[in-house]
Amino acid sequence: MKALRCHAHGAPEDLIVEDVPLPSPGPGEVRIRVAAAGVNLPDALIIQNLYQLQPPLPFTPGGEAAGWIDAIGEGVTGVSLGDRVAAMTLAGAFAEHVVVAADRLIAVPDGVPLGVAAAMTMAHGTAYHALAQRAAVQPGETVLVLGASGGVGLASVEVAKAMGARVIAAASAPDRLALARERGADVLVDYEAGDLRTALREAQGTAGIDVIVDPVGGSLAEPAFRSIGRNGRYLVVGFAAGTIPAIPLNLPLLKAASIVGVLWGAFTVREPEQHRANMATLYAWLLDGRLQPLISRRFPLADAAQAIRLMMDRKAAGKIVIDVCADGPDRRP
Ligand SMILES: NC(=O)c1ccc[n+]([C@@H]2O[C@H](COP(=O)([O-])OP(=O)(O)OC[C@H]3O[C@@H](n4cnc5c(N)ncnc54)[C@H](OP(=O)(O)O)[C@@H]3O)[C@@H](O)[C@H]2O)c1
Repeated sequence: MKALRCHAHGAPEDLIVEDVPLPSPGPGEVRIRVAAAGVNLPDALIIQNLYQLQPPLPFTPGGEAAGWIDAIGEGVTGVSLGDRVAAMTLAGAFAEHVVVAADRLIAVPDGVPLGVAAAMTMAHGTAYHALAQRAAVQPGETVLVLGASGGVGLASVEVAKAMGARVIAAASAPDRLALARERGADVLVDYEAGDLRTALREAQGTAGIDVIVDPVGGSLAEPAFRSIGRNGRYLVVGFAAGTIPAIPLNLPLLKAASIVGVLWGAFTVREPEQHRANMATLYAWLLDGRLQPLISRRFPLADAAQAIRLMMDRKAAGKIVIDVCADGPDRRP
């Protein structure tokens, strides 16, 4: 089978598409014929050896896939060949087939295109877990999303709106903010155009913001936290800016607010039933039109490295999807 391979840590341009042996599922595993794979910032980090989890070299990057089950390992029950599924893989999804543990599969309902399913697992899954389980967002609360045009960011805008929140979207340029507006953001803040704290005070007044989704970190975190309200929840999602912020601990005290960590990958392993329920909710919202995930670019597997380059260069908007195989049982990738 064809796979994008990382033989030495480095740039996307060092990755090569090559033939590798078709993997076989072991006990408790299934093999997915990959229709599509979503691209995420961790793909750019993992090939540079900058991610917290690191597969041994050589490896195939790709953290999420959707496709059809095409081989079933010993002891696996409750699934059939041809089932439409999505899975978080950490690595391995940028290939024609990927083997995953059967208990990690998400059933993809009819009507949900596999290319969209591939794009939703990590971004929308993280956004929903963060907002629902970690922050318990209530209708009418105000949610600030930093990096609001990125994968997790734009998904957080959509999910927060679907949960009935008022959304302040913050991003680095007017065209990126326009994407958040199209997904329902109520207020737009350009953090490259001026002081973030001043803009947030204008947007929210003295009441303060209820929930902050931060997949960016860096210099945005402290002014954002200073804008939080009483009983606010600051969701630490990621550090796309490359710097881990240090928030002075007098601030949570003075604000009577919480800093809440989000570790979605571990959540999917420790609470698989809740993860499946979350994804079922997200698919239902997709099917009734409440979510319209933005897939801004699609690439064939041969050009997957270009997609990772876009992520690395801060040029991606919403999600980028790699179309891998179009010849599954239902031919509807
Ligand atoms: N905690 C969890 O469970 C979890 C789950 C999934 C992802 N994550 C993390 O969440 C973060 C975002 O992932 P993603 O896939 O959504 O990434 P993404 O699509 O690249 O979005 C990141 C956003 O951050 C902003 N940004 C600011 N400075 C940046 C920089 N120096 N480089 C790149 N982006 C920068 C960009 O928006 P502007 O250009 O508008 O500023 C961009 O839209 C990553 O750190 C990832 O590891 C965490």
